[in-house]
Amino acid sequence: MHSICLIPGDGIGQEVVPAARRLLEATGLPIEFRTVEAGWGTFTTQGTSVPDATLAAVRAADATLAGAFTSPSKRVEGHQGAIRYMRRTLDLFSNLRPARSRPVPGSRDGIDMLMVRENTEGLYVEKERRYGDVAIADAVVTKRASERIAKVALEQAMRRRKRLAVVHKANVLPLTSGLFLDTVMSMAKEYPEVETYDIIVDAAAMKLVRDPESFDVLVSTNLFGDILSDLMAGLTGGLGLAPSANVGEKYAVFEPVHGSAPDIAGKGIANPTATFLTAAMLLDHIGEREAARRIERAVDTVLTQGELTPDLGGRATTESLTDAVIEALD
Ligand code: NAI
Ligand code: MG
Repeated sequence: MHSICLIPGDGIGQEVVPAARRLLEATGLPIEFRTVEAGWGTFTTQGTSVPDATLAAVRAADATLAGAFTSPSKRVEGHQGAIRYMRRTLDLFSNLRPARSRPVPGSRDGIDMLMVRENTEGLYVEKERRYGDVAIADAVVTKRASERIAKVALEQAMRRRKRLAVVHKANVLPLTSGLFLDTVMSMAKEYPEVETYDIIVDAAAMKLVRDPESFDVLVSTNLFGDILSDLMAGLTGGLGLAPSANVGEKYAVFEPVHGSAPDIAGKGIANPTATFLTAAMLLDHIGEREAARRIERAVDTVLTQGELTPDLGGRATTESLTDAVIEALD
């Protein structure tokens, strides 16, 4: 029996996570689900975005599937973004964000790449201060975190096409971005089979748009990885299709790349595909590889049939798409 913790969270998280649960149940795997709370809604009622009981449930489960968490763009006293808090507290140091061509309008052909994003430091240490009209943010880069994310990226590259792009801005930030670059490059010497090369982040953005087929694995610091992975999602059908995994040594929290999408929340039209593909990554993590492939095949079958939600130009609903994917499970 597998134990999976579910955290729907905010906005469309409340729609796509229950849809993924239905799909996981339809696989017939022995899974015990436990649903717990986190996010902005939880903060407004309980004064914390991630209650201790939620952290305990994540720790107790084999893996966690989360939806999305709203973060206001203004500082709110006492509030910490739920996913960032979990990444740091549970030491989920790697964020894996694959982008692969999908059979939908708007997806480019020939793309199969993976962003490995450092998930605990950089500018996301959330150390900001303001002195009158001047505001300052700290970015933290450590050799230890750079080494362990380098290892994850190199191991992933070994299992793929053995090419690794190290995305950085060491020309402007030689101490922080430079430490990251140097650390990954020296770690890469232990993986001579992997062709490791460096690329400055702005050039990487352009090359991703013009020549995405040339990329295999990319590794970067937190902010660059966050931004470029949305760009990568945009090349392959958009946020409605982009899965991700936050993985540490002990715990793993899987979540779609997208956020809580307040513009469409509650309308029943959120695309659950990103969460389905995220659930497939979760199944891989707990060793259920065959079921993971079944989900991916069912998703591709349904997308090929043109069963599309409005974000992809169709008229399917979260529910009708979920029904179709369950129907297509082989
Ligand atoms: P977003 O990803 O929520 O939405 C961006 C656009 O993509 C919107 O037009 C939305 O309707 C569309 N979209 C996203 N997912 C979709 C789906 N599954 N189906 C159909 N359309 C979809 O990003 P946004 O609007 O910048 O942020 C909204 C909130 O989400 C903010 O509070 C932000 O902090 C939070 N957020 C949370 C994340 C997380 O929990 N990991 C990641 C990104 C944003
Ligand atoms: Mg993001």
